Amino acid sequence: MKTADAARFVNLGRYPIGDLVSAEYRALVQCCREQFDDAVSCHLPDFLRMDAIDAALREIDQKRNLQHLYIQHRGAYNLEDPRTAKHQTALDPEDARSMPHRRHQRWIGTDDLSEVCPVKAIYDWPNLTQFVRDVLDVPELYTVDDPLMRVLINVHIQGDELGWHVDSHDYAVTILLRGAKQGGLYQYVPMTGPGDENYEYAAKLFEGDVSRVRTVPMGPGSMVIFRGRNTLHRVTPVVDNSQDRVLALLAYDPVPGRNFGPSFRRNLLNRETPRA
Ligand SMILES: [Fe+2]
Repeated sequence: MKTADAARFVNLGRYPIGDLVSAEYRALVQCCREQFDDAVSCHLPDFLRMDAIDAALREIDQKRNLQHLYIQHRGAYNLEDPRTAKHQTALDPEDARSMPHRRHQRWIGTDDLSEVCPVKAIYDWPNLTQFVRDVLDVPELYTVDDPLMRVLINVHIQGDELGWHVDSHDYAVTILLRGAKQGGLYQYVPMTGPGDENYEYAAKLFEGDVSRVRTVPMGPGSMVIFRGRNTLHRVTPVVDNSQDRVLALLAYDPVPGRNFGPSFRRNLLNRETPRA
């Protein structure tokens, strides 16, 4: 797909990433960086244009039969091998890090998306990569090469959720295509990760103390750039069956040419190679 096609999927009036040397672009980057000063989440509402959202959803909704249901119960702190469904049991059962959290959601791999799917098209637009690099203020950040996991589609239907966890990578970039009518909220608590060892509050959180919880007010087309390695976060259960929650996850890595490898693909998508 040509750059011009990818560019037209982005709300360039509000997010002028078409010209990376303009004053407007520099002001946008500055504004985004400031969001990170008191939070870990940079929320960009209406980043994707409505016609791009509609086109992506038309395709994704037609491919429901390709979704893989992923089910695990895992501790929040990535102490397990991410390639297995086994829950860490070496810790004291009273330790907050040992409490299992339910992960029940559906995934579609990159190779199941067409080349004209808007989320795939903008992922391959170098300007978007540069924008993410600039907002995070990191010199090394690249799109990945993995044929199944470059761009993933994550679907939550009624009862699905992603329990409290921290990420094993420094940052995540997501675009909401459609929210649930009830539930399916993206929530996080700053400074609750391994770097803080704030497990005392984590234990309270897991028992229902939501006093420090923040909810990202994502709507259709919202992009979120998120630092999740040191931040507990979750997607709350989708309550009703009137509307699936559909999210695109764009993968970036500090090293160019990254592949996630067969076991990670098997874990999330139940297959290791692209469909023939
Ligand atoms: Fe996460």
